[in-house]
Amino acid sequence: MICLGLEGTAHTIGIGLVDHDGNILANRAEMYRPTVGGIHPREAANHHAKKIHPLLLSALEDAGISLSNLELIAFSQGPGLGPSLRTVATAARALSLSLGIPIIGVNHCIAHLEIGRIVTHCRDPVLLYLSGGNTQVISYANGRYRIFGETLDIGLGNLLDKFGREVSFPFPSGPLVEKAALKGSELLSLPYTVKGMDVAFSGILTAALTLHRNGSRLEDLCFSLQEVTFSMVTEVAERAMAHLEKDEILLGGGVACNSRLQEMVSTMAEERGADMTVPPPEFCVDNGAMIAWTGLLMHRSGVRMGIEDTMVEQNMRTDSTEVPWLSPGTTA
Ligand code: ATP
Ligand code: FE2
Repeated sequence: MICLGLEGTAHTIGIGLVDHDGNILANRAEMYRPTVGGIHPREAANHHAKKIHPLLLSALEDAGISLSNLELIAFSQGPGLGPSLRTVATAARALSLSLGIPIIGVNHCIAHLEIGRIVTHCRDPVLLYLSGGNTQVISYANGRYRIFGETLDIGLGNLLDKFGREVSFPFPSGPLVEKAALKGSELLSLPYTVKGMDVAFSGILTAALTLHRNGSRLEDLCFSLQEVTFSMVTEVAERAMAHLEKDEILLGGGVACNSRLQEMVSTMAEERGADMTVPPPEFCVDNGAMIAWTGLLMHRSGVRMGIEDTMVEQNMRTDSTEVPWLSPGTTA
């Protein structure tokens, strides 16, 4: 069975083709990049509407198959921006109805975890999911994937992008912050905001921008932003591993591409006798393959949806989705 996965929760439209055994046959994506300011949801949705068809054709060509070979359509049902979600869900419904094949709505956050499991071969990890919109520590416990810690305000990638916008870095700014940080050395004073298992970033953004206005070196600011925020998320992830007695940590989301983050988390993992795994960058960022693969896992374990079940959920929670492909107590 070949599944077509459509990802479109925020600024990236992704089309993935995955077979029954988890072989990734194609994974195409395009990102909407605003020329000024942040993401405008309506513009992101228009971008996705324009790109879906050409991306679909390229993905089919990459895989060497045609529409008639598809047997399942999966799409990102939430969480995300309403206009982007609705545009991609509409395309998924149209494909399902016109091809006469089943449709499945997928929880985007769970898809990050499942693609990490299949491409890195970890079994039962704690996922540290760091993207623009999301910052969560997720793991399987008592029959569901659950959130053990999360941001109380903005996502970590969003902090880097907002900071970057103010200092004239283009969007997305994470890679430029990483590059500038390599030339920084002085650890400037920024608030370290870990609250129990949760973190918060907006106070750090305000403090960093104040230091910038007062003449601190940009390289030192980027260095300090990384050191402080990466320590915060590493601390929370470590606490989740300790509580859950898990010995694998998986990175996901665009910020997971950052080498300093990987270094910090891998040191923490080594000290605990645990393993860290990171998927290749195309599977860290939002992508269609993760939606296709999670759709297949759902379908294989008996999940079925009618068109009436495919309404998007902007605030879909990780623990609101049942995971029948993982039977209680197992990590298969
Ligand atoms: P989601 O819908 O899951 O919130 P997203 O739309 O933010 O995802 P992703 O592609 O997962 O999309 O992540 C993009 C984020 O990753 C941006 O905020 C970007 O600045 C950040 N990022 C990308 N590369 C790096 C890097 N090398 N270092 C730090 N941050 C990075
Ligand atoms: Fe994501």
